[in-house]
Amino acid sequence: MTSTLQDRTVVVFGGTSGIGLAAARQAKAVGAKVIVVGLNPEGAGRVAAENGFDGWRAADVTRPETIAAALADIPHVDHLVLLAGTFVAGRVLEAEVDHLKRAFDERIWAAVHTLRTLGDRFARDGSVTFISGALAERPTAQGTAVLAAASASMEAFARGLALELAPRRVNTLSPGPIDTPLLARTLGAGREAYVAALSETLPARRPGTAEEAGAAIVFLMSNGFMTGETLHIDGGSRLV
Ligand SMILES: NC(=O)c1ccc[n+]([C@@H]2O[C@H](COP(=O)([O-])OP(=O)(O)OC[C@H]3O[C@@H](n4cnc5c(N)ncnc54)[C@H](OP(=O)(O)O)[C@@H]3O)[C@@H](O)[C@H]2O)c1
Repeated sequence: MTSTLQDRTVVVFGGTSGIGLAAARQAKAVGAKVIVVGLNPEGAGRVAAENGFDGWRAADVTRPETIAAALADIPHVDHLVLLAGTFVAGRVLEAEVDHLKRAFDERIWAAVHTLRTLGDRFARDGSVTFISGALAERPTAQGTAVLAAASASMEAFARGLALELAPRRVNTLSPGPIDTPLLARTLGAGREAYVAALSETLPARRPGTAEEAGAAIVFLMSNGFMTGETLHIDGGSRLV
């Protein structure tokens, strides 16, 4: 059976590491032409060469002019994956407001600017996949309220855009704990204890892998009847 992604152009923002890189590799494996976008140009070039991607770009998704420059010479995009982002933490009464705003800049406003930049170059039978996260439904008391709000907003935004951009499809992947460089950076020395705790409390008994989350993104991209959906991949974390 021919893949629905065969010869389709897939652009993955955040495709140079973790979940996005895994999605990019799997899309390529089923025949897509993949262009990855990361923040760091050296890393993006190296990752694209190592994986045989069709191209790479560097952009800071919080700076619209760099999104425009990254997409300027791409004539046509079939599937857009928007995962670029960081763990923006900080308590509402203490953190700098400009820092907290970043959670929305990396997500909602990055998506708005990317879609406006692409305009008619975005295929009518294409798709957009956003990322939210378990925080959207279950925030913590450790300074994640704004990130939780930004994550939840992506799910609502996808539902609205699924109507506004139709027949293009728009979905959100909501991952639980996925073992990526972001998780290691965020938890630092606490990563081991966190993973040990998951092995006792999470129904799946472990964090997810980038490959598992990447496969869910490829599913959302390739299944033509999926739109307006939030797909959870969380090892059962919402059940406990
Ligand atoms: N891992 C989890 O448990 C988890 C759970 C829920 C949600 N998420 C979300 O999933 C997304 C991907 O996470 P991950 O774990 O795969 O992280 P990761 O391994 O750190 O990858 C992040 C990717 O985003 C890019 N990026 C970061 N800031 C950017 C910016 N301002 N402009 C352009 N690109 C930028 C990075 O590029 P460089 O490599 O060049 O920096 C990299 O390609 C994030 O939005 C994260 O919040 C992750």
